[in-house]
Parts: sequence; structure tokens; C-alpha cells
Amino acid sequence: MKIGEVREGRARILVPEEAIEGDPSRAPVFYNPRMERNRTVSVLVVRSYGGLLGRGMTICEPLSGTGVRSIRYALEVPHASRVIANDVSWQAYRLIKANVELNGVNDVVEVHRRDGASLMAELWNVCDVVDVDPFGTPMPFLSAAIMAVRHGGMLCVTATDLAVLMGNYPRKCLSRYGARVARVPFSRELGLRVLLAAVGRQAAALDAGIEPMVSFWDGHYYRLCVLVYKDVTSAKDTVDNMGYAYYREGERGLVAGYPKAPGGDMGPIWVGKLGDVEFAGMVSEEAVGPYQGQRRLLESLYNEYMAPPLYYLTHEVAVRGREPPLGLVLETVRGTGVDAWATHFSSRGFKVGARLSYLRALMSSAAW
Ligand SMILES: C[S@@+](CC[C@H](N)C(=O)[O-])C[C@H]1O[C@@H](n2cnc3c(N)ncnc32)[C@H](O)[C@@H]1O
Repeated sequence: MKIGEVREGRARILVPEEAIEGDPSRAPVFYNPRMERNRTVSVLVVRSYGGLLGRGMTICEPLSGTGVRSIRYALEVPHASRVIANDVSWQAYRLIKANVELNGVNDVVEVHRRDGASLMAELWNVCDVVDVDPFGTPMPFLSAAIMAVRHGGMLCVTATDLAVLMGNYPRKCLSRYGARVARVPFSRELGLRVLLAAVGRQAAALDAGIEPMVSFWDGHYYRLCVLVYKDVTSAKDTVDNMGYAYYREGERGLVAGYPKAPGGDMGPIWVGKLGDVEFAGMVSEEAVGPYQGQRRLLESLYNEYMAPPLYYLTHEVAVRGREPPLGLVLETVRGTGVDAWATHFSSRGFKVGARLSYLRALMSSAAW
């Protein structure tokens, strides 16, 4: 394979040339430059979590590709004392070794060539952070990942099968995630809630519970970072955060209840919080200097975690076919003394604790 070099964060990474110039999924070892933000935000999240722990952390990345993420954790997270990088592919394994050498992190990063699920199952309760970043769905790795996280540890998960999670393939969503969803104006949020519920159910099956710290949509993937608590009470609390969404004549809402929730027709999904306001604020504060570029997303997550669920789109409050600009909608709603938030899910989306019929009437009566 022809090798090139890229710089990402503080790391220098050897990658297959095809990954830079062509389709990363066709390269002999996977490296996707479009996932840089995923990795950078993860560095900031894990840094913040390490700051809270205040001690050395063991971080496991079972599906490492070139090793870029593991190496960035070793270089950019002060509390990363042991990083376990792994990939089942021999070519990836060799490249990770070379990259570890190149970045001088041999004393922190250990490299394995194993099946990721078996490796994690052997690391039962060992890891402070487990980062599962697969092709497509994380489902085959979730159970072992939850085993590997210690009580109170952090599980980070990426999913790139957005079309399935957002309801484009309802039968696939049912078989893969156990949820029934349809296309709705707030599909991006619904998909994230399907994924959180799948992680929560898998945890509960192992007598563990989850608490979302940060979760978001970013165009072609979902990312979530949850704390995992290994006790029966947390498992029950997690089940209490399951429920359904309804969408009828434009009106939308969530109803808690598992396995059934009267009036809800899409789910089961996660009906609890998408992230922790205080923690998101801490992560956002980390976005300075070379990380400044992540500030906007992180601040908008910080704000959004205070907002009620299920966003609206501006075209839903159009007046005589005219779609109002987002700023105007926010201003009009706030002018009535009601809180309204922009959402990271769409540049034309907003969240507000009010019914669509009320919002339509409000926009019709506003002079614009
Ligand atoms: C999406 S890539 C990982 C990208 C990497 N995390 C990053 O941030 O650049 C998924 C990787 O998982 C590896 N993989 C697939 N199945 C695996 C398994 N069962 N065990 C370990 N690695 C596996 C593939 O070889 C591939 O390198």
C-alpha cells in the first residue's frame, strides 16, 4: 500500500494514500478525514471526563483503523495513562504500530490485533473509557463494550447508519435497533433517541444503566458519550427513560413507558435527556486554542440540553407559503415570554415547549 502522512490534532499519522485521495472505505486501512471533528470532540469530552476523575485513565479503542484516535488520546488527554488500540486487520495493526512509534507514545499505547468484541469482553470492568467507532452500526460491539467499562466509566459510540436510524428503512430499524420509526420533520433527533435507547437496553440487559453526557448528530454520523453505572437501580432508571414519540397533524411529543406507552407510536426510544448541561458546558470551555473550531457546536449542545425535546422546522410555521427565517421565529416566540432554542439538528430547526397550532397562530399574527 502507498503511504502518505497527515496531521490531525497533535498527531502525525501515516495513512494509505487512497484514504486521502479517494474513498476511505476502499482504502486497505480505514482513515476518514471527514471524521476529524468526531475525534476532536471526543478528545475534549474525554479530557473533561479525565479532569473530573482526577487520575490516570485506561482508554480502549477496539476498532482503531490507523490508530489516529488512540494516538490523539495519548497525546492530547493529560489523564490518559493507558490506551489500548486494536484492529482485527493485520494491515491496520502494522500501521497502528508504525504510528505509535512515529508519535513516540509507545509507553502509553499498547497495540493488539484481535476481534474487538473478544478483547473487550476480556477487559471486564477494566476501562475508564471505551470508544466504539465502527463501520455503520455499533450494535455487534455494544454488549462487550458495556462489559469492558468499569462502574461510572464512559462509553462513547459512533453510528454511521443514519438512514436506518432515521426511518428510511423501517424494517431494518426494527430488526437492528428494535424500534419502529417513520420519517418525520424531527427524524434526526428521533434517530439519535433510537440509538440511545439501543445502548440503554443493552446496558440494562447486563444490569447496568446509562446517563447521556454528550450526544449529537453531525451530518453523516451520530455520536454519543454516556456514563455507565453497573447496578440494578441504574438499570431500572434506564428503562424508565424509554418510551415513544407521537406525531399527529403536526403535533409531537414523547411519552415515557416501556415496553408500551399509551398514545406513542414511534419507538421504543430514549425519552430522557440527550446530554448533561453542566458537563457540556465544561467540554465547551475546553474548546480553546487549536480546539476553537468546535466551540460553536459545543455551545449549541450546551444550550440545547436545556430545551424541551423534538424540534420544529421553520417551514412548519410558514404563513401563506412563506417560511420565516429562524431568527425571526426565535425572536417572536421569545417576545411572548416563552423560551425558545436553536437546535444543532438543523439550521432551520428550533425547540420550544409549545404546540404547533400555537406557534402557527403566533407567526400568522406577527407582522413580518
Ligand atoms: C470505522 S474504522 C475505525 C476508524 C477509527 N476508529 C478512526 O477514528 O479513524 C473501523 C475499523 O474496525 C475494524 N474492524 C472491523 N471489524 C472488527 C472486529 N470484529 N474487531 C476489530 N476490528 C474490527 C476495521 O478493520 C476498521 O479498521
